[in-house]
Amino acid sequence: MDLKGRSFLTLKDFTPKEIEYLVDLAAEYKDKKKKGIPHDTLRGKNIALIFEKTSTRTRCSFEVAAHDLGIGTTYLEPSGSQIGKKESIADTARVLGRMYEGIEYRGFEQAIVEDLAKYSKVPVWNGLTNEYHPTQMLADLLTIREHFGYLKGIKLTYMGDARYNMGNSLMIVCAKLGMHFTACTAKEYFPEEALVAECQEYAKESGASITLTEDVDAGTKDVDVIYTDVWVSMGEPDEVWAERIKALSPYKVTKQVMENAGEHAVFLHCLPAFHDLKTKIGKEQGEKYGFTELEVTDEVFESENSLVFEEAENRMHTIKAVIAATLGA
Ligand code: CP
Ligand code: NVA
Repeated sequence: MDLKGRSFLTLKDFTPKEIEYLVDLAAEYKDKKKKGIPHDTLRGKNIALIFEKTSTRTRCSFEVAAHDLGIGTTYLEPSGSQIGKKESIADTARVLGRMYEGIEYRGFEQAIVEDLAKYSKVPVWNGLTNEYHPTQMLADLLTIREHFGYLKGIKLTYMGDARYNMGNSLMIVCAKLGMHFTACTAKEYFPEEALVAECQEYAKESGASITLTEDVDAGTKDVDVIYTDVWVSMGEPDEVWAERIKALSPYKVTKQVMENAGEHAVFLHCLPAFHDLKTKIGKEQGEKYGFTELEVTDEVFESENSLVFEEAENRMHTIKAVIAATLGA
C-alpha cells in the first residue's frame, strides 16, 4: 500500500482497503510505542500545524506522533499567523510548502483545506473542518476494532447534530466499511441529502446500511456503538444554544438509551464532552437552561461501557499512521 504524497482531507478520497491499512498501521505503531521500540524513521522532516480553532487531542496527537517519528513541528495558533487575515490560503500554502514536508489544518470550510493541498504541493491533513473530521474516524475505527475484534457488520448509532463534521464523517466511514450507520436525531439535524446519496453508493459496494430516524427506541435498539458529540460546535454562534437544546434534548445519551442498545454496547464521543458542569461553557449553559449535563449523562460517560479515553489515546496512534504513510516512513 503506497500512500506517499497523498493528502488526507476526507475519507471520501480513500478506498476501504486504504482506510483499513491506516488502522492496521496505527495498531502496529501503538504496539511499538507500548513496547518502547523506537520508530523515529522520519528524522530531519518538519511539519506545520495550523489551528484556526482550538484543540487538545488533535494538537497533542500531531505533536507527540511527529516527535516519536523524529519530525519537527511548528504550531500556528488561532491568532498566531497571517492566514486568512493578511495572506490568502493560496499564498500561505505556497510559503509553507517550501519549508515543510506536510501541513495539518484545523479550521472552517473544507474548501480551505482543499486549497492548502492544491497550492502547497505537500501532504495536507485535515485536523477538523466544519464538514469533516477524518483523523477522528481512524481513532474510532481502531477503538471499535480493538473492542469487538472486527468492523464489518458493526451497528453504530449517532445521536445529536448529524449534519456537521462528526455525523458526516461517521456516515462516510461506516458506509465505506460495511458498517450499519443510523443517525438518530431530529429531522432538521439529519445529514444533507446529497451526502446521504453518495454514502448509499458506497454502502451498495460494502454491504453497509444507512438509516435516518427520529425514533430513539428504534434507532438505538440492539446496536453495538452509541456515539454522540457536542450539540454546538466550535465556530457556531452562542445564539444557537437555545434551539439546539430544545431540538436535541430528546437525543441525549442516557442509561435508558444504553440499556436499549444492550449490555454489549459501548459509548463513544470524540470529546470534549459536556457530561457535567465542570467546564466554563457547560456551567454557563447549564445554569442558563437548567440542566446538569448535555449530550450525555455523567452516568453513561463514566460507565464501564464508555471507551472515550481509549478513543482519545487512539487519536495519537492513528494520526501517527497518517503522517507516516503519507510522508513515506
Ligand atoms: N476530538 C477532538 O478533535 O478533540 P480536540 O478538539 O481536543 O482536538
Ligand atoms: N463537532 C465538534 C467536534 C469537536 C472535536 C466541533 O466541531 O466543535
